[in-house]
Amino acid sequence: MSSRQITIIANWKANLPPSEEVALAKEIAAGLEGALQASGSPSRLRVLLAPSALGLVPVASLLRREYPQAGIEVAAQDSSLSSAGAFTGEIPADHLVGIAPAVIVGHSERRRDHGESGEVVGGKLARVVAAGLAPVLCLGDNLPEAGIATRVAFVQAQCAAAFDAAERAGSSAAQLFAAGLVIAYEPVWAIGTGTPASVEIAEAIAVGLRSTLHREDLPVLYGGSVDAATAATWFGAPTKRTGLDGLLVGGASLHADRFVAIVRAALAAAEPA
Ligand code: PGA
Repeated sequence: MSSRQITIIANWKANLPPSEEVALAKEIAAGLEGALQASGSPSRLRVLLAPSALGLVPVASLLRREYPQAGIEVAAQDSSLSSAGAFTGEIPADHLVGIAPAVIVGHSERRRDHGESGEVVGGKLARVVAAGLAPVLCLGDNLPEAGIATRVAFVQAQCAAAFDAAERAGSSAAQLFAAGLVIAYEPVWAIGTGTPASVEIAEAIAVGLRSTLHREDLPVLYGGSVDAATAATWFGAPTKRTGLDGLLVGGASLHADRFVAIVRAALAAAEPA
């Protein structure tokens, strides 16, 4: 068992209208409130729900108003490269302050559907950090057949591209870490397919990222077809050096019972030895 902090993030993407996101948040919070309170969360386990942009405010208010003891937080799925100003339709990171303490940046669906390059991802990281929020940087290869070394090298390069761009946009690596940066390894071939990556691959990526960034305590999450049945397998490694620090859950997080089961498995893993 380990004493590291585990982070579980529900990424609801654009699946639900805000009224249904509020209902789902309610069900999840009711299912977890007792367990999270008893566990001493959030020191050992952080749970964040990432609703759509429209659901952020109502879900955050619900959690604050009705489940303050649960300690469940809200994360944004994205924020803009632009600052506050005359940018129609944008959501500047500054405007998320007081609503969402964390922001997902560089999800593969943003990279795929909106052509977000390493440059854009790095620029967004800098905006998030400047706003005083914690970035959750998503990285992932689209190399289903590759060996582990190739995969690790790909993700390290993707990480370097984002860090270099963040630096050019005004946020050094030290500032990213100080802001509470979390990296989520989300292989494109595992997202929404029902077939997660192996623990061996995810751990190799975590080790490779910690080594290239010279941060043994860098929190690395795994995401891609995580479900309750396999949730416990991600937390087997006893040390920070090889273990994963949490999960980013898509499809399964749209079902309160499945997400609650995942969090409960993480809770068991987060128990002190
Ligand atoms: P999935 O999505 O759990 O549905 O595979 C994960 C993600 O894209 O964050």
